[in-house]
Amino acid sequence: MANIVIVGTQWGDEGKGKIVDLLAEYADIVVRFQGGNNAGHTMVVNGEKFISHLVPSGILQKKLCVIGNGVVVDPQVLLEEIDYLESRGVSVGPDNLMVCEKAHVIMPYHKKIDVCMENKKGDCKIGTTGRGIGPCYDDKVSRRGIRFVELVDPDLLKEKLSVILEEKNFILEKYLSCEAISSENILNEFNSYAKRLAPFIKNVSVIINNAIRDGKQVLFEGAQGTHLDVDHGTYPYVTSSNTVSGNACCGSGVGPKVITGIIGIVKAYTTRVGEGPFPTELFDETGEYIQKKGAEFGATTGRKRRCGWLDTVLLTNAARLNSLTGLAITKLDVLGGLETLKICTGYEYKGKIITEVPAGIKALAACKPVYEEMPGWKEDISDIRSFKDLPDTTRNYLKMIEKLVDIPIDIISVGPGRNETIVLKNPF
Ligand code: IMP
Repeated sequence: MANIVIVGTQWGDEGKGKIVDLLAEYADIVVRFQGGNNAGHTMVVNGEKFISHLVPSGILQKKLCVIGNGVVVDPQVLLEEIDYLESRGVSVGPDNLMVCEKAHVIMPYHKKIDVCMENKKGDCKIGTTGRGIGPCYDDKVSRRGIRFVELVDPDLLKEKLSVILEEKNFILEKYLSCEAISSENILNEFNSYAKRLAPFIKNVSVIINNAIRDGKQVLFEGAQGTHLDVDHGTYPYVTSSNTVSGNACCGSGVGPKVITGIIGIVKAYTTRVGEGPFPTELFDETGEYIQKKGAEFGATTGRKRRCGWLDTVLLTNAARLNSLTGLAITKLDVLGGLETLKICTGYEYKGKIITEVPAGIKALAACKPVYEEMPGWKEDISDIRSFKDLPDTTRNYLKMIEKLVDIPIDIISVGPGRNETIVLKNPF
């Protein structure tokens, strides 16, 4: 029996949605364990594109989908997503979607504070998605959050809100010069969400662990990427949750013993949305070529993604932080047509070559990438379905990644569709 974690190895947007959708065929349960609707997971099935922000990407494979305790959930977005999937012919109900009773609820003041705080920071902004993610996690660790178990108790919700709003409205009005939020409006809106969502709310830790005991297989779907991890990422330009594989356990209520494999998703080049250092970022026509050919726009905010060469300093860091057992390379087809490819193998910092990501933001910004150059390929590889049929130069690029990161490549994606994939080893 296998229980597999999927994580992003870069700054998010590696194409996790496609790989989760692909591997969900072999799983019984797909679990989201962190983040919220800051994520945007894109899946293309039979030419039809679906983007999910909260519902696990296993929904199209008709698997049991679980939103774990570690996720922060905007109930309005969740209901809209359920309605959207239903309107596209995907059935979603309490039998195939569950939300943990301990998951925290994103409230209107979280979203407002997120946006107003970013505006106040001006040039020092993080470039958040504005979805209220940080302020909601803030309240979770400050022990004043609202969880689903409280959301479905109208009296308790009213009581908690009256205390919380006193503080939030003080911050909104006095510190952020924004309008206060009324408790009555929130209660009307959130009591109606609670009624609709009540059947979905469960103790998911018990459900997942019982399923594992009964021999079922679980796929844990990470959101964002390793270098957006609040502890291990490029702090403070990070998201507010732990994105590394270890959090699959905390964020869903299982112990580490149950995990049997960890797949790191690697985009064949690097992208980043939002602010923060990015050593291999390209500011020339090659960067534009990759941005255009890869249609690199954030799936959540529509912002243009910054593009650059593959950075194996980031990848080896991710391999260590996540205990990766295999890699899945995505968007390899996008690199086709480039004369020369570059792979970053180290950083030059203060006259020395380093191969670890420095913790300080100033130090990382001062790092100059050291590149290995390789010939590219002219061919369109999107119709190729076996490793041996790939051009020599493509295979050499992949072998170089394996050598530098020292982790085997299990999956290669050459297009957005489920079938546009070369599976060398199925982790299940
Ligand atoms: P937040 O998660 O909205 O607080 O944003 C913090 C940082 O993480 C910003 O740079 C966002 O652009 C980035 N971010 C958040 N979610 C994602 C994601 O799913 N993919 C890529 N970047 C993300």
